[in-house]
Amino acid sequence: TPRVLSGIQPTADSFHLGNLLGAVRQWVGMQETHEAFWFIADLHAITVGPTPAELRRRTRVSAAQLFAVGIDPERSTLFVQSHVREHSELTWVLSCNTGMGEAARMTQFKDKAARSGENSAGVGLFTYPILQAADILLYQADQVPVGADQKQHIELTRELARRFNTRYGPTFTVPEPYILQEVERIADLQDPSAKMSKSSSSPQGILDVLDEPGSLRKKIMRAVTDTGSEVVADPENKPGVTNLLRIQSALTGTPVPDLEARYAGEGYGTFKKEVAQVITDAFAPIRERTEKLLADEAELDRMLDVGARRASAVARETMEVVRDRLGFLPRR
Ligand code: TYM
Repeated sequence: TPRVLSGIQPTADSFHLGNLLGAVRQWVGMQETHEAFWFIADLHAITVGPTPAELRRRTRVSAAQLFAVGIDPERSTLFVQSHVREHSELTWVLSCNTGMGEAARMTQFKDKAARSGENSAGVGLFTYPILQAADILLYQADQVPVGADQKQHIELTRELARRFNTRYGPTFTVPEPYILQEVERIADLQDPSAKMSKSSSSPQGILDVLDEPGSLRKKIMRAVTDTGSEVVADPENKPGVTNLLRIQSALTGTPVPDLEARYAGEGYGTFKKEVAQVITDAFAPIRERTEKLLADEAELDRMLDVGARRASAVARETMEVVRDRLGFLPRR
C-alpha cells in the first residue's frame, strides 16, 4: 500500500475552512486506501514564538480536531512532531545538502520574512522548509496531500531526496504532492485575492471550525461579493462568489454548474444564507466532538503516545540507513 503523510501547524486555537477543505478532508479519505501518517507540526510552530501555554493548548486542540474530523487511530498514525526526535536530526543532515540560494527562493519564507521586518526574521523561518522535507522523507511517503501554498516546499523536498540519493545512494522515496484543484486555495472572505490564512487573514476573513454558528453566519453574510448580482463562477471577475461556490460545492458534493443553475434569478442574499447553513451544519458535529475529546486530556495524550510509538519505529529505521550512508560510525 502506498504511504501518505502530511502535517498541520498548531498556530491557532482552531483550524479553518481552508485547512479543512484543502488538506484535512483528503486525509480522512486517504486513510482508507493508504498507509497514513499525520502529525501536528509543533517544531514548525515555534518559528513564530508562541508562549508555552499557547503551544500546549493549540497542540491538544489540533489533535482533538483531527480526531473529531474523522482521523481514526486504528487506520492512521497521528502524532506530535516533537515526540519523534529524528525530525530534528534529519533536518540537520538535509541542511548540509541545501544551498543558501535554494532556501532563500522559498516564497513562503520571503513573505514571512518581509512581514517580520528585514533582519528580525529568525533562522528557523529560513530552515523551515528543510524541516518539512525531513518530515516527509523520514517516512518514505509516496504522496503528500496539501493545499497549493505547500507546493513549492514539496518541490524542494523532491529535489533534496534526489540529491541525497545521488550523492549517497538510494535512500529516500521521492514524494508527489497531492493537491485537489477545486479546493487548493480557499480564499479570505474579505480579500478573495488572498488565501484564507491563520497568520495573515483578518478575523472577518477566516472561518474557524470552532467558531460559534452566529459568528460564522455573520462572516459569510458580510463576505465580499462582487459587482453584478448573478451567482456564477468566474475566478477573474467574481473571485468572491467563485470562492463561496467552491466551498458550497466541496461541502455538499454538488457540482458548481448545478449550483449556478439552482441560483439562477436569485440574488446573493439567498445564496449566502444557504452557504452559511451548509458551513454551520458541517462544523457543528466537529465542534461537539472536539470539545468531548478535549475534556479528557489524559486519554488524548495517550492516543498521541500510541501514534508517536508507531511513527518513531519508522523514523528510526530511516535514520539508521541515513547515518550509515553518510559514514557516521555505528555505536558499539
Ligand atoms: P498549515 O498548518 O499552514 O496548513 C495545513 C494544511 O492546510 C492547507 N491550507 C489551505 N488549503 C487550501 N486553502 C487555504 N486557504 C489553505 N490554508 C492552508 C495547507 O496547504 C496545508 O496542507 N508547512 C505546513 C505544515 C507541514 C507539512 C509538513 C505539510 C509541516 N511539515 C510535511 C505537509 C508535509 C503548513 O504550514 O501547513
